[in-house]
Amino acid sequence: MTAASWQSGEGNLARDTDYNPLDAAAKRERRATSVRAVVYGALTILFVVVLLVMLFFWEGLGGYIGALPKDPQKAAQRLLEAAPVIVSYIIILCITRHDRLHIPRMDTSANLPILARSIYSNNVSAIDLNQPMPGHVDIPRLREGKVGGFFWSTYVACPAGAGLDEGEDYLNATWRVRDTLEQIDVAQLLISKYPETFSLALSSADVKLSISRGKIASLIGVEGGHQLGNSIAVLRQYFALGVRYVTLTHVCHNAFADSCGLSPGMEPRWGGLSPLGFSLIEEMNRLGVLVDLSHTSDETAKQALKYTKAPVIWSHSSARAVYDVPRNVPDDVLEMIGIAPDKTDAVVMVNFAPHFVAEPGNATVQTVADHVDHIAKIAGKKHVGLGSDFDGISDVPVGLEDVSKYPALIAELYKRGWNRFELVGLTGRNLLRIMDKAERTAAELQTSGMVPIMALYDKRKDL
Ligand SMILES: *[C@@H]1O[C@H](CO)[C@@H](O)[C@H](O)[C@H]1NC(C)=O
Ligand SMILES: *[C@@H]1O[C@H](CO)[C@@H](O)[C@H](O)[C@H]1NC(C)=O
Ligand SMILES: *[C@@H]1O[C@H](CO)[C@@H](O)[C@H](O)[C@H]1NC(C)=O
Repeated sequence: MTAASWQSGEGNLARDTDYNPLDAAAKRERRATSVRAVVYGALTILFVVVLLVMLFFWEGLGGYIGALPKDPQKAAQRLLEAAPVIVSYIIILCITRHDRLHIPRMDTSANLPILARSIYSNNVSAIDLNQPMPGHVDIPRLREGKVGGFFWSTYVACPAGAGLDEGEDYLNATWRVRDTLEQIDVAQLLISKYPETFSLALSSADVKLSISRGKIASLIGVEGGHQLGNSIAVLRQYFALGVRYVTLTHVCHNAFADSCGLSPGMEPRWGGLSPLGFSLIEEMNRLGVLVDLSHTSDETAKQALKYTKAPVIWSHSSARAVYDVPRNVPDDVLEMIGIAPDKTDAVVMVNFAPHFVAEPGNATVQTVADHVDHIAKIAGKKHVGLGSDFDGISDVPVGLEDVSKYPALIAELYKRGWNRFELVGLTGRNLLRIMDKAERTAAELQTSGMVPIMALYDKRKDL
C-alpha cells in the first residue's frame, strides 16, 4: 500500500467515518423534495395555463367564462345560456284587462286587448301558454328568447281616459283593488299551471334558484299607486301576496305622487311626492318592495331617489336625450344614479315601446340599443337593464317583435363592444343586485325596530 493509497484510504476511511446514514437520508430527502417541487411547480403552471385557456379561450363555458364567439348572434346565444334574461316588465296578454282599451297609447291597435277580453276573460283554463299566443308572450317564445325570469306586471287602468272618475282627491270608490287582486290571481294561477316552466319568486335568491333549475323565475309587480286604493295597508297585503315592485304612478296622478302623463306639460298635482307618497316609500323600504319610478314625473323621481333608503328601478323606461318624450328618463335624473355615497343605486330597464324609442317608423333593435348605450354612458353600465313592455304595447320595434328576440339586442350591444360582464349585468345581474340590496335594507330596517307605517291619506274621512 502506498502512502498515497493510505492517504486516500485514510481519506476514504475519514469519509467513511463521517458517513452518517441519517445525513444520506436527509440528502435523498432534499433531492426528492426538489424533484417534488419541480413536479408540483410544473403541475401548478399546467393547471393555471389550463384554467386560463378555459377562462378566456374555451367557448364551451359561456357566460362569465370561456371565450365568446366572434359572431354576435352566436355570442349572444352562448352568453344567454349561462346568464338568461331577467325582464322587469311583461304583461301576459291574458291578464291584460279590457281597461287597457281606454289608454290612449293602446288605441293604436285594438286587436290585442279585444282578444284578451273576448277570448279569455281571465279564464286560466282556456289559456294554453304552450301554444302560440296572440301577442308577444308564450312559453315557446320565452324559451327561445332565453328568458330566465320576469315580473308579471299586474295592471289596471287609471282614470285618465279610462272612463273612471276618481274625483279630484282620488276618493271616489273604484274597482281597482278588486281588479288588481284578480290579476295577481291570474298570474299566480298561470305560474302554478306550468310548474315545469314557471316558479314563483319572492326574492333574488328565489330567482337564482329558479334559473339554476332551468325554470323561469316569476315575480309579481303592480303597475301604479292608483291600484292601492290610497292605502298603505293595501301595499302590505299585496306584499303578502308576493308583489315585489309597485310603480308609484301610471299615466295619471294619484294620492301618492305625480305622474309624467303621456304628453308634455301635464300640470303637477303635488309637485312630486305627496306626504302620503313619502310614507309609502318608507313602507316599501321596510317591506322590501321595489320603488318603481317608470311613469313618474321628473320631480317625483328626484324626490324618491333622494328619500329612498333602498335602491330603485325604472321597470320600463328609456332615455329622454335619445328620444324626447316625458315617459323617458332625463339626463339630470340619470346623473343622480350610481354607487357613490351621494348617489342612489338604481337600474333603468329600457322600454321597447316604439313611440318612446324613436320617431314613427324608426324604432329598431339599433335605436333601442342607442337608449341602452345612452343610459350606460350617463348612469353607468351597472345601471341599465331590459324592461321591454311586451304584451303591454300594440306595436313593436323592427327586430324586437316579441320575447323570443332578446338575443338580437344582446348581439347588437356585443357588436358595439359591450363585454361579457357588462352584458351579464344588463341581462339580469344588475336587477338582482338591486333586489339583493333592497332585501338587505328591509331586513336592517326591521331589525332596527322600525314599525309598520300607520300614515293615512289625510283626505279620507272614514278613518
Ligand atoms: C274556461 O275555459 C274552459 C276551457 O276552455 C271552459 O271549459 C270553461 O267553460 C271556461 N269557463 C268559463 C266560466 O267560461
Ligand atoms: C267623483 O267625485 C267627484 C267629487 O270629487 C264628483 O263630483 C264626481 O261626480 C264623482 N264621479 C263619479 C264617477 O262618481
Ligand atoms: C329615421 O332614421 C333615418 C335613418 O337614420 C333618418 O334618416 C330619418 O331622418 C329618421 N326619421 C325620423 C322621422 O327621424
